Amino acid sequence: MLEQFAKDVDEGLSQPKKELSSKYFYNKKGDALFMEIMKMPEYYLTRSEMEIFTEQTQDLINAFSVTPSNYFELIELGAGDGSKTRKLLAALSDQGYQYDYMPVDISKNVLDLLEDSLQKDLPQVSVKPKHGDYFEILQSLKNSHHPKVVLFLGSNIGNMSDETATDFLYQLGANLQAGDKLLLGADLIKPAEVVMPAYDDKQGITREFNINLLHRMNNELEASFDVDAFEHAPEYNETNGVAKSFLKSKRDQHVAINATGKVYQFTAGEKIHTETSRKYNDEILLDILKNTDFTIAHKFTDRKQYFADYILNRE
Ligand SMILES: C[S@@+](CC[C@H](N)C(=O)[O-])C[C@H]1O[C@@H](n2cnc3c(N)ncnc32)[C@H](O)[C@@H]1O
Repeated sequence: MLEQFAKDVDEGLSQPKKELSSKYFYNKKGDALFMEIMKMPEYYLTRSEMEIFTEQTQDLINAFSVTPSNYFELIELGAGDGSKTRKLLAALSDQGYQYDYMPVDISKNVLDLLEDSLQKDLPQVSVKPKHGDYFEILQSLKNSHHPKVVLFLGSNIGNMSDETATDFLYQLGANLQAGDKLLLGADLIKPAEVVMPAYDDKQGITREFNINLLHRMNNELEASFDVDAFEHAPEYNETNGVAKSFLKSKRDQHVAINATGKVYQFTAGEKIHTETSRKYNDEILLDILKNTDFTIAHKFTDRKQYFADYILNRE
């Protein structure tokens, strides 16, 4: 894991346009900061999707096309704290559905917290966590032939470029069977005055979340980042619906990283791209899906139409 982290960091910081994968935000500190972000008034994504999960729980379940007497696997990619999923789990269990809940996450810390809290709050749910990168676990889905419902919530898909999202959904579809479902949470394109504060809040929690990546490299890769010499720099392009976060170097500087054995140069104003948060509409999603085995079967939105949960059918 550490070797892979060092390799990815070296690759990302050696490019003409420097970048780091957003999956490295999620260590213990990053998990805690993300839970704070979800509670922020500016972070409409969680509230909007929670409204769908709370008020349209039964419609979501009906769209899964599963029956109480037939066992299925409920797999969640990048589950985090599973706060919205709990609504589904409680309803499914109340109605006597037979299933295992299989949360997948790259953060072992968040998976342990999720398992503990579900054991306490919903002891009737059978939880089978899987620690790892969801890009790497896709093939293991083929190991069982049970019907599957895959959850990919919180617009996690938006962290991928459209090209990577197409490839990811193609691979996912290739490892599922006809009739399996994917519940895909997607943040919808909307004006900058709504989107920007979610990535640049007044209290500075999103700043801390972004800067934590520098702390993580200092701690785990023995890097020498002066964290005060970088600023949190989010951007949103309302026309194409792409939000991006960067860490911007405040001055000319160089940073040594022991784990890679290299020194990296930064000029004043140079940016490291740390996260993409793509926003969607039906057209963009259909364009991504056209080269995959998925079709849109249902679409659920919150009252403000900020967020959509699509039910995709594996053809
Ligand atoms: C933005 S949070 C969203 C959590 C949850 N889906 C929700 O809607 O509240 C992203 C979650 O995905 C996990 N994650 C990010 N990249 C991942 C990857 N490549 N493989 C597995 N998990 C990943 C993170 O650890 C984190 O828990």
